[in-house]
Amino acid sequence: MWGASTASHQVEGNNHNNWTVWELENAARLAKGAKKQLGHLSNWEDIRQQATDPENYISGRGVEHFIRYEEDFDLVKELNLNTLRFSIEWSRLEPEPGQWDQAAIDHYKRYIAALKKRGITPLLNLWHWSHPVWFEEAGGFSKQANLRYFERYAKKVGDELLGGVEYVVTINEPNVFVGFAYLVAERPPQEKNFLKGLYTYWNLTKAHKRAYRVLKTIKPSLHVGVAAQLANIQPKRPHNIIDFTVTKWMRYAWNWWFLNRIRRYQDFIGFNYYFTDYYRGVKSDNPKVPMNDMGFYMEPEGLYPLLVRIAAHYKLPIIITENGVADATDQYRQWWLDESMLALTKAIDDGIDVRGYLHWGLLDNFEWSFGWWPKFGLIEVNRQTMRRTIRPSARKWAEQLEDIQKS
Ligand code: BGC
Repeated sequence: MWGASTASHQVEGNNHNNWTVWELENAARLAKGAKKQLGHLSNWEDIRQQATDPENYISGRGVEHFIRYEEDFDLVKELNLNTLRFSIEWSRLEPEPGQWDQAAIDHYKRYIAALKKRGITPLLNLWHWSHPVWFEEAGGFSKQANLRYFERYAKKVGDELLGGVEYVVTINEPNVFVGFAYLVAERPPQEKNFLKGLYTYWNLTKAHKRAYRVLKTIKPSLHVGVAAQLANIQPKRPHNIIDFTVTKWMRYAWNWWFLNRIRRYQDFIGFNYYFTDYYRGVKSDNPKVPMNDMGFYMEPEGLYPLLVRIAAHYKLPIIITENGVADATDQYRQWWLDESMLALTKAIDDGIDVRGYLHWGLLDNFEWSFGWWPKFGLIEVNRQTMRRTIRPSARKWAEQLEDIQKS
């Protein structure tokens, strides 16, 4: 699978969910605190105007993917991609508990049919951090009693939307969600509570298992997994015992803990790769360059050692469900893609069973608590006109993919 990924709340527009409520409550604060949080970035002057404007933190019309999806799928084809990962917006399907919106279900049926019509494989994601307001108000995933709601939602999607779908991801990046929601408390439900965070993390393993069982009962041939956020974690000083021990522990806590809990409930390992982290003692100590627009150190080739470790841990096919770079001027993306392709090729040559690479993202989108200024899209979107323009790096990648598909 060669493809790209999106998430409902980041592209659709006009949602009403836990995030839209939080955005309205927090936009002014985020704009006010932008300089303190982002002022150190080398591109601060370029982003200042946007980052200090409360509007930046409102998802609003999104990039109107909800109504422009056919146009976007044509661009997927133009990029020679054959797979799209997208998420279903739970809050559209079930705006009130137990009340299903048939129009929303029909929308996603048309959506999937439009992909199939173009020969694009749909990879359906159940939960990418956004959910109905009523679910949030009931305590979301922090309460075990609420898992039945997620299971019911999974069943509904299973009953209604799996025709033509062979791949499903149940949840996206549970570690990042828990970290932002309960540990640093910068995103909804924004509650600093370590124990609650751990408990929620545990509940998410159960949520996945329940969804897995329900979906596989409905459609046994389905391939079900998660989209885990995994980092290439390395010791800064390879022969230093402390760096080495911390690295081992961090790998376990960040990368493997969740996947180990759901080991027997996965048909593939799905993971998102963005980061290499070097540990000096207990502190991360990354090189200062190259940095992307969000100040993340970039080491795309770190995908290879990570793939080697994943393959050693789990004897399952692997799908890279996200990988990409915030790069408004498109100066790094082509290099990033080239390095990622090399890392992939190397892993495949080693006999590692990599089935797919999905780039993040298809379109410029709403980057959660950072808002609109970070640009991850293969396709640039002008939010005034909603005009889509394929970035030069993406064109180059499309050429490579054409060659691969020919050979
Ligand atoms: C998330 C995406 C996000 C991307 C880039 C991942 O952690 O799954 O929703 O847009 O990173 O920040």
